[in-house]
Amino acid sequence: MADPNVHRSSTFAPVNIAVIKYWGKRDTALNLPTNSSLSVTLSQDDLRTHTTASCSPKFTKDELVLNDEDQDISGARTQACLRELRGLRKEVEAKDGSVPKLSGMALKIVSENNFPTAAGLASSAAGFAALVRAIADLYTLPSSPAELSRIARQGSGSACRSLFGGYVAWKMGTEKDGSDSAAYEVAPASHWPDMRALILVASAEKKDVSSTVGMQATVKTSELFNHRAEHIVPARMTAMEECIKDRDFATFADLTMKDSNNFHATCLDTSPPVFYMNDTSRAAVRVCEAINTRAGKAICAYTFDAGPNAVVYYIAENEGQVAGILKSILGGKMGWNSLQGRAVQAAEMPKGMEIAAEMLERGVSRIILTAVGDGPRRSEEHLV
Ligand code: DP6
Repeated sequence: MADPNVHRSSTFAPVNIAVIKYWGKRDTALNLPTNSSLSVTLSQDDLRTHTTASCSPKFTKDELVLNDEDQDISGARTQACLRELRGLRKEVEAKDGSVPKLSGMALKIVSENNFPTAAGLASSAAGFAALVRAIADLYTLPSSPAELSRIARQGSGSACRSLFGGYVAWKMGTEKDGSDSAAYEVAPASHWPDMRALILVASAEKKDVSSTVGMQATVKTSELFNHRAEHIVPARMTAMEECIKDRDFATFADLTMKDSNNFHATCLDTSPPVFYMNDTSRAAVRVCEAINTRAGKAICAYTFDAGPNAVVYYIAENEGQVAGILKSILGGKMGWNSLQGRAVQAAEMPKGMEIAAEMLERGVSRIILTAVGDGPRRSEEHLV
């Protein structure tokens, strides 16, 4: 039986993959970005972090266990999240003297990812979103998802967008204290539910240069980066919000691919240069471009984060022409994970992409087929 002295709350939180990328901080302590960004939240059926936050008068120190391994939580970012959440709990306790004094108890947080950690699959985003949401629920905080996103942002920037489902923007804000730098929902998943995402895992290794380090090197040394932050991204944010509202996939795809390429161009413009995409990534670009050329319009959109894995967005009605072609190239591989993946019919490859197809076949180890999904979900399944 569960120990009555242990208070606990559990949540599932999703991964999000940006279509307008966050890259660069204007304040490293508060984790404030140099530009706004926008992402699609992916389905938790395929990719999620499950976290239980617990506290008890018997616990002696704060602890975080991820995938059965103890994590160092002394870092300023995790500490900032814990401090803010405890502060809010103290306000709850001050208002109502009858509630237990959880803010004074040590926390034990246990998390599990159902995907490779730090493989460029936005694990820190789901991780911090789950941590903040689970502790907020444990503390019965009245905070809105937007308020919690401001806290999660301090753990990892992209995490603020995982507090919402569907299509989510992170407004960079202008205040020095970061009070207006938070995420908001552009549209729920139900607004455009047929958005699909196919992840081609080109490496499940830990990344070479972390996003935190890479982006600050870019801020310091790339001139191209200033142009991106000041001119390119602001116009694209407006255009992206509009095409999501209109469910205009061709424009969504065009902006997504351009923004990924622009972000990786600033990485190349960093000195010394930072490389996240590799030959397999470039083969994925070639294959997507060939699919779009044959269709006569953009029916798929590639995007790459700080790693070589490709995320390919498309609309369900084009499954045959996008996932089908990728299945004919990669059909022998493990990991057409879901029922949906197994149901995809292999389709004929466009001409002239044999070399790219061969390279992709060699470099991709796993395929995850998923879709747009909802925000964090409370769970009664506890890990503590
Ligand atoms: C390329 O959110 O991991 O995925 O704030 O330093 O933790 P920190 O960085 P992080 O950076 C993500 C960068 C990106 C683009 C994006 O998700 O918008």
